[in-house]
Amino acid sequence: MTQTLTLARPDDWHLHLRDGAMLKAVLPETTRHFARAIIMPNLVPPVVTGADARAYKARIEAALPEGAHFTPLMTLYLTEETDPEDLAAAYAAGLITAVKLYPAGATTNSASGVADFARVQPVLERMAEIGCPLCVHGEVTDRSIDIFDREAVFIDRVLDPIRRAVPGLRVIMEHITTKDGVDYVRASPENLGATLTVQHLMLDRNDMLVGGMRPHYYCLPILKRRDHRDALLAAATSGDARFFLGTDSAPHPTHAKESECCSAGCFTAPVALACLAQTFEDAGALAALEGFTSRHGPAFYGLPVNSETLTLTRSDSPVHFPAQIANGADPVTVFTPGRPIYWSAP
Ligand code: NCD
Ligand code: ZN
Repeated sequence: MTQTLTLARPDDWHLHLRDGAMLKAVLPETTRHFARAIIMPNLVPPVVTGADARAYKARIEAALPEGAHFTPLMTLYLTEETDPEDLAAAYAAGLITAVKLYPAGATTNSASGVADFARVQPVLERMAEIGCPLCVHGEVTDRSIDIFDREAVFIDRVLDPIRRAVPGLRVIMEHITTKDGVDYVRASPENLGATLTVQHLMLDRNDMLVGGMRPHYYCLPILKRRDHRDALLAAATSGDARFFLGTDSAPHPTHAKESECCSAGCFTAPVALACLAQTFEDAGALAALEGFTSRHGPAFYGLPVNSETLTLTRSDSPVHFPAQIANGADPVTVFTPGRPIYWSAP
């Protein structure tokens, strides 16, 4: 018996598309299913000015597959040198939808991120005035803090002080991975939201580390223990509109993942919706999927819900997805959750 589930067309509120050949290779995997995505600015060099965002947006539009209906929602990479006037002009022109805060050194291509948070306070105040949201990579980078504790420590040491200093700022805690993150969002006013990834809803650190180390599960923030995953899944399936999908699909060539020093990032775009449907079904919460993938994000960003739809199909036997996508000599391995998936998206 075939079952179907029709959703308002989903959006991805945190996505890495890269540039050049990789952009061309991965973009169709997102545009097939998603109407819009918040595009991460961590290119090398990063997207720091309105002019950079305009040029990157044009490169994305030029790489769109024939007939695709897709809107890239651009972001600026916040640095200690960000010019509030340039940012405000880009926001007023509709060129950017948000600004991204990376603590310096937190993750892939974050060397230009913020080290001294006091130095960006004037920019954050300007953003609060104009209503421009801040997307936050919430991990401290202090070597003395254990990698599994970096999100919880960031909330106490960085995020909460920023939100107290600039209470009018709309903030998205991206890819939260802990119960601490979930609890902090739940206890906060409505101007704080959070995105959740597919891998953090499906996996815990045992999946990555027990019985051999699986590089394709290595991403940042790193997978946490089981009880954190359970808290994330409870939040995603709860219907609370402050939790929504940001896949953080982050392609790296397979050779860079299967290497002595594995790059951080899971490439989930091709399978994200199939995996989520399975995860929500297994949690007895399929009815909550559309809110999470298609309604809560637009509400938080003050954008309309997409009028188009996407229909997912459930088969009687597990679906086989491509193991890799082509990218010249550097194919990219597609995320596999290590359990059968019966759902698929067209
Ligand atoms: C991202 C990337 O590869 O750009 N990697 C990741 O593990 N998520 C960067 C990021 O969002 O942290
Ligand atoms: Zn990311």
